[in-house]
Amino acid sequence: MLFPVLFQLGPLLAVIFLQHPPLANTAAIEMDRTSEQVEASIVDPDQECTPYNYAPVTNQLNSFPQVWGPASILPEDSAALATWNSISATIPTSIAKKTQPPPSSYPSSDPDCWWTYGQCTTPKLAGLPPDVTAASEPSTLGYGFDDGPNCSHNAFYDFLQSQNQKATFYFIGSNVADWPLEAQRALVDGHEICALTTFSSEDAFAELWYAMQMIKLVVGVTPTCWRPPYGDVDDRIRSIAHALGLQTIMWEYDTADASVDGKTITDQTVENNYNDFIQKAESGAFNLTGTILLTHELNNFTMSEAVSFYPQLKNIFQHLVPVGVSLNKTQPYVETNYSLPTFEQYISGTLTGSRVSPNSTTVLPSSTSSASPPPSVSSSIDSPSPNAATSAIKSGYDTVLLAAFFVTLSCSLQTALH
Ligand SMILES: *[C@@H]1O[C@H](CO)[C@@H](O)[C@H](O)[C@H]1NC(C)=O
Ligand SMILES: *[C@@H]1O[C@H](CO)[C@@H](O)[C@H](O)[C@H]1NC(C)=O
Ligand SMILES: *[C@@H]1O[C@H](CO)[C@@H](O)[C@H](O)[C@H]1NC(C)=O
Ligand SMILES: *[C@@H]1O[C@H](CO)[C@@H](O)[C@H](O)[C@H]1NC(C)=O
Ligand SMILES: *[C@@H]1O[C@H](CO)[C@@H](O)[C@H](O)[C@H]1NC(C)=O
Ligand SMILES: *[C@@H]1O[C@H](CO)[C@@H](O)[C@H](O)[C@H]1NC(C)=O
Repeated sequence: MLFPVLFQLGPLLAVIFLQHPPLANTAAIEMDRTSEQVEASIVDPDQECTPYNYAPVTNQLNSFPQVWGPASILPEDSAALATWNSISATIPTSIAKKTQPPPSSYPSSDPDCWWTYGQCTTPKLAGLPPDVTAASEPSTLGYGFDDGPNCSHNAFYDFLQSQNQKATFYFIGSNVADWPLEAQRALVDGHEICALTTFSSEDAFAELWYAMQMIKLVVGVTPTCWRPPYGDVDDRIRSIAHALGLQTIMWEYDTADASVDGKTITDQTVENNYNDFIQKAESGAFNLTGTILLTHELNNFTMSEAVSFYPQLKNIFQHLVPVGVSLNKTQPYVETNYSLPTFEQYISGTLTGSRVSPNSTTVLPSSTSSASPPPSVSSSIDSPSPNAATSAIKSGYDTVLLAAFFVTLSCSLQTALH
């Protein structure tokens, strides 16, 4: 009688046992994956990258465009609509949306100050500030990383902590939705958070707006700086960012650490880029004005390179500081209850400004988080996948009960078969 049931459960059983690390670890980790502190203490990258359910995000996903999809204003989003209506008159309609690569019809005079076309960073449209491309202080590196938060970043953030080093992190809204506790760690550790969008040209307002809202929802602060993906920005997009209170942060040098394809760009290319940059610094290129180097939080390779070149950068530059610190930007967020130190304060050893921990993001206890089906398995997020936060991972306690249930079933099955 029991047999048909057991055979039907077989595949599910296999999924649970194949996809999960030893039960004791799973239980210990999953039960606590609602707090930034506990998440930050996980050292096994596989455990770090096991998706978890975070109610404050899951409960709000309907208020956002599809995670990892192109953004547009949701029809019922009155705040987004009101904001767009209030700024749209200032956005030029004469500048066309861009496609890549730049078409041959685009004038060589680069009328739109399109970075992708000619690395333009001084807008041609009146009323826009120039992009930030460098730290203005001598021998200073505006230190920062794109594309986070990466689920496996604890080793890297631990390293930065061990060096008393703060940085600027350019967070992608969809990564923040997938890995909210990791995003919170950046603020808790005293780093600066800026936004980075996944697509910029098609609906730049929605891309920026929802990235800002996701960071605000998860971390409790609204960024006032952003970096365009692949640097793809022109004066139309700059004017939208500016109207949203976002300073555009570019770079002068590129490690190409996120572009390794094993063919034209190899690990060695990236190391050569780092070495060339360090040599440039050695030759005095930044003695009078600092700079910004493009590096990523993207994956283990990019973070490992950052760790291994840190001592040389630290040695050759007098100061490695978050970009906002290099700008004396003591109010880095819309919310004023969080500040950064000035450049002078930072280099004199005051690495963080005043802050009040963002408890607007208080997590619901897992027992009250929304019920969900049995553990679904995380797919690789290399190929942008549905939001990890939505892939329903049961709270730890339930997982233990469920697993115990299947252990019992499994034993019965084996007994029955032999
Ligand atoms: C740059 O500064 C370093 C350190 O002060 C100094 O040794 C070097 O000679 C300077 N190089 C140039 C080109 O000014
Ligand atoms: C984060 O880093 C890990 C380790 O390299 C990698 O497996 C994973 O794909 C990265 N996540 C994303 C979203 O790129
Ligand atoms: C890279 O991955 C290895 C193996 O998982 C890990 O030991 C190391 O801490 C990781 N490094 C960084 C910087 O994430
Ligand atoms: C930051 O403040 C210092 C004085 O404390 C000043 O010398 C420096 O020019 C300021 N930097 C910027 C970018 O405003
Ligand atoms: C910080 O300020 C924001 C609004 O300005 C508010 O929502 C948030 O609750 C404040 N945080 C704390 C911990 O007071
Ligand atoms: C944040 O936490 C503090 C201390 O627990 C509390 O006094 C304050 O009211 C909280 N603020 C918000 C906005 O919940």
